[in-house]
Amino acid sequence: MTRAISVGLGDRAYEVVIGPGLIDRAGSHIAPLLKRGRTAVVTDETVAGHHGERLMASLEAAGLKATLITIPPGEASKTFAGLESLLHQLLALRLDRGDLITAFGGGVVGDLAGFAAAIYKRGIDFVQIPTTLLAQVDSSVGGKTAIDTPHGKNLVGAFHQPRLVLADLDVLATLPLREIKCGYAEVIKYGMLGDVDFFGWLEANALDVLMTDLGALTHAVARSVEMKAEIVAEDEREQGRRALLNLGHTFGHALETEVGFGEALLHGEAVALGCAQAFRFSVRQGLCSAADAQRVEAALSDAGLPVRLAQVSNSPFKADALLAHMAQDKKAEGGRLTLILARRIGEAFVAKDVDPGALRDFLIEEGAAP
Ligand code: NAD
Ligand code: GLY
Repeated sequence: MTRAISVGLGDRAYEVVIGPGLIDRAGSHIAPLLKRGRTAVVTDETVAGHHGERLMASLEAAGLKATLITIPPGEASKTFAGLESLLHQLLALRLDRGDLITAFGGGVVGDLAGFAAAIYKRGIDFVQIPTTLLAQVDSSVGGKTAIDTPHGKNLVGAFHQPRLVLADLDVLATLPLREIKCGYAEVIKYGMLGDVDFFGWLEANALDVLMTDLGALTHAVARSVEMKAEIVAEDEREQGRRALLNLGHTFGHALETEVGFGEALLHGEAVALGCAQAFRFSVRQGLCSAADAQRVEAALSDAGLPVRLAQVSNSPFKADALLAHMAQDKKAEGGRLTLILARRIGEAFVAKDVDPGALRDFLIEEGAAP
C-alpha cells in the first residue's frame, strides 16, 4: 500500500512516499541523505506527545544523532518571534550544512522549519514528515515555506524544496476530525481545479476519506500529491499554472486575516468557504454554471465544511476590509486583483485584473457589510 511519487525538479527532484507505518522506517529513509548522521527534528508539542518517541526511536535505530526541538502548536508559532527562537536553537546545536532539519508536524511546523532551513547558514537541507492531512496533500510538497506577519499570512518566506517527504497515513489516526476535514478541503480543491473525475470519486467516497479508511486515504492523498507534483514540476516559482493551487485561497486568506488566524476559522475551513465563493463569483461573472457552483457547495457541506460567511461565528465581515486583504495577496500585481476562478468543476483558471467593484458587490451579496 505504499506509493512513491516523484516531484520532477531535475537535480532537486525528490520523492513523496505515502503509506502506513512510515515514521517507523523514517531513519532508513533519511540516513542516506546525511553526511554526518545528524538531524534536528522540529515538531510541535501535540505531535511530539503522540508520535515523537516512535520517530526518535526510528532515527536512532538507523544510527542517526537526532535532537528534538518542540514549538507550541498553532499558527502563532509561524511568526518572526517563532522563527528567531527556532534559529537560535538550531545555532546552539551547531548544525551545519552537512546536517539536515526534519520538519515533523502539520503545515505550521513545515512552513516554519522549512523557512528556517532556507535561511539557516544560507540554506540547509530538510525533510518533511507531514502529520496532518492538509500538510500531506499540500504544504509539505512544492517547497513553499513562510511565516505570517501582521500584514497577512505567508508574506515572508522562500521557495526551498525538501529532499524527501514521508507521508505516514497512520499518524492521521490521532488527528481531530475537524483537522481531517480541513485537509479534505485541500484534497477536493484538486478535483475542483483540474480533475472532475477525482471530484466525483470524492463525492462518492468522502465518508471513507474522513473516517481515514486506509484504501480511500491512499487514493485521496496520492492523487492530490500527483496533481501537485505535476504542477510544481512545470511551474516551481508560480509564474503561471501553479497559481491554480490557490483556488479558494485569496477569499480564504482575507477571511482568516479578518478573524485573526485561529479557532474561529481554521485554514482548511477558510479554503473551503473560499472555494465556494470562487465558484459563486464565477457564476456571477457569467463564467460558470450555477449547477456546478451548487455541486461544489453541496460536496463541501456534506463534508461538514463551511460554505457561507454566516457560518463563521461572531464575524461581521466588511467588504472593504476583505478587499483590502485581497489586494495584499501575493498574486496581486500593481494593486490589480488576481483571482482563481472556474469555468466548470475541473477547469480553474487565473483571472487577472478582476473588477474590484464587481467583487465588492459580490461580497455584499454574500452577506458582508459595506
Ligand atoms: P497545523 O500545523 O497548525 O496543525 C493543526 C493542528 O493539528 C495543530 O494543533 C497540531 O498540533 C495538530 N496535529 C498535527 N498533526 C497531528 C496528529 N497527527 N495528531 C494530532 N494532532 C496533530 O495546521 P495545518 O492545517 O497542518 O497547516 C496549516 C498551515 O499550513 C497554515 O499555516 C498554512 O498557511 C500552511 N500551508 C502552507 C502551504 C504551503 O504550500 N507551504 C499550503 C497549505 C497550507
Ligand atoms: N499551496 C499552494 C502552493 O503550494 O502553491
